[in-house]
Amino acid sequence: MKITIIGTGYVGLVTGACLAEFGHQITCMDKDESKISSLLNGEIPIYEPGLADLVQKNVQEGRLAFTTNLEDSVGGAAAVFIAVGTPSSRRGDGYADLTYIYAAAKELALHLKGYTIVIDKSTVPVGTARQVARLIREANPEADFDMVSNPEFLREGAAIADFQRPDRVVVGAESEKAQGVMKEIYDPLYLLSTPFVFTDLESAELIKYASNAFLSIKISFINEMANLCEQVGADVVDLAKGIGLDGRIGAKFLHPGPGFGGSCFPKDTVALLRIAQENGVSARSVEAAVEINAAQKAGMVKKIRDVLGGDLAGKTIGVLGLTFKPETDDLRDSPSLSILPPLHEKGATIQVHDPQGMDEASKIFPEFNYVGNSYEAATGADVLVLMTEWNQYRALDLDKIKSLMNQPVFVDLRNVYSPEKMRELGFTYVSVGRR
Ligand code: UGA
Repeated sequence: MKITIIGTGYVGLVTGACLAEFGHQITCMDKDESKISSLLNGEIPIYEPGLADLVQKNVQEGRLAFTTNLEDSVGGAAAVFIAVGTPSSRRGDGYADLTYIYAAAKELALHLKGYTIVIDKSTVPVGTARQVARLIREANPEADFDMVSNPEFLREGAAIADFQRPDRVVVGAESEKAQGVMKEIYDPLYLLSTPFVFTDLESAELIKYASNAFLSIKISFINEMANLCEQVGADVVDLAKGIGLDGRIGAKFLHPGPGFGGSCFPKDTVALLRIAQENGVSARSVEAAVEINAAQKAGMVKKIRDVLGGDLAGKTIGVLGLTFKPETDDLRDSPSLSILPPLHEKGATIQVHDPQGMDEASKIFPEFNYVGNSYEAATGADVLVLMTEWNQYRALDLDKIKSLMNQPVFVDLRNVYSPEKMRELGFTYVSVGRR
């Protein structure tokens, strides 16, 4: 099938490459000429495991093309995905900024030829798909199209696997014809017996926000339990196992840590709160999850300060990891962005390593020292903080780390190491919610 994807950001690029791999004929379109010319040169602007290879393979095999020409790419396509960015609005009020989506809708409307489905893939407030359909109809009353909402559930760092083997596919499509085209697009997933949820546009849009909000609530819940465990002498890892084995609760997303970050949970929880507020409905559980998350990050600052005896002046803090999770170069709303500046402001030197995030971080925090590996981050440090659980931080030579540090103090914000082992090795070891 001939498919066009508008927007070559994270979602657009992954969707384009994966649909090409399914066998479709994909054109990825973006207005940003430099982005498209880099892609045409084989350069992938984001770090996502497996993506560069998938793009290269499908370009070589003739199923994936890149262009800045909207007219050529939209005319004749059976399906057009809108995957442009929906950042939080510049007003800072938590609303999603829909400028790019609406602009894309008005423009693509003029180039539709024959029956086409227009699919909203970006995360958007409830009602957006219907508004996009209205804008297309206004711009081109002759257009023969159906509007579809098809939210994505891709995790950064695991996006290719998530696309190719999803837990479910949600399709808001209100005509049988549109549902038929969507079934054809995702045909390979039917062979894997992937569940499909066909629904109306509004429900599909809300499913996306509700999924991210629920997962955020789960994380904030376990973070609160971790704090309680610390006070009563219980162990949150056992607690998570003990509750997670109940099939109604489920074991996933019960890892305590420095708080959730990234480009989705922080933005989408706040956007859902705005949607609820606008509609006169309370969403107190989501509100609590957001507040707990802010408190969790502040709690991590205190944890690090306390282990250093409260005085940070002249201390060196080694940091392992800056990105909001492993296998990404994404720093957006990463807990490190909230945790490290207050420590630096109180006089500590921050000495950090991250496998992918240092280029971006050095633009935000030129005052930190960026080093080449974990051992350099530990050298001369008064405390070593494991912030992001990259694989390369999971099997450190701890004797070597200890010998390099000014004093053997380890703060493990991801509960990677065993408290017993760390103490046996002679570390003062602090983690999250464990004795
Ligand atoms: C999230 C969702 O998991 C995806 O399904 C969704 O498609 C995506 O948002 C989106 O809306 O585009 P992502 O932000 O890539 O994906 O990352 P997650 O793996 O969900 O992690 C988010 C944050 O929660 C990270 O900071 C992570 O460290 C934290 N987290 C996650 C925990 O603290 N504990 C956990 O148990 C799980």
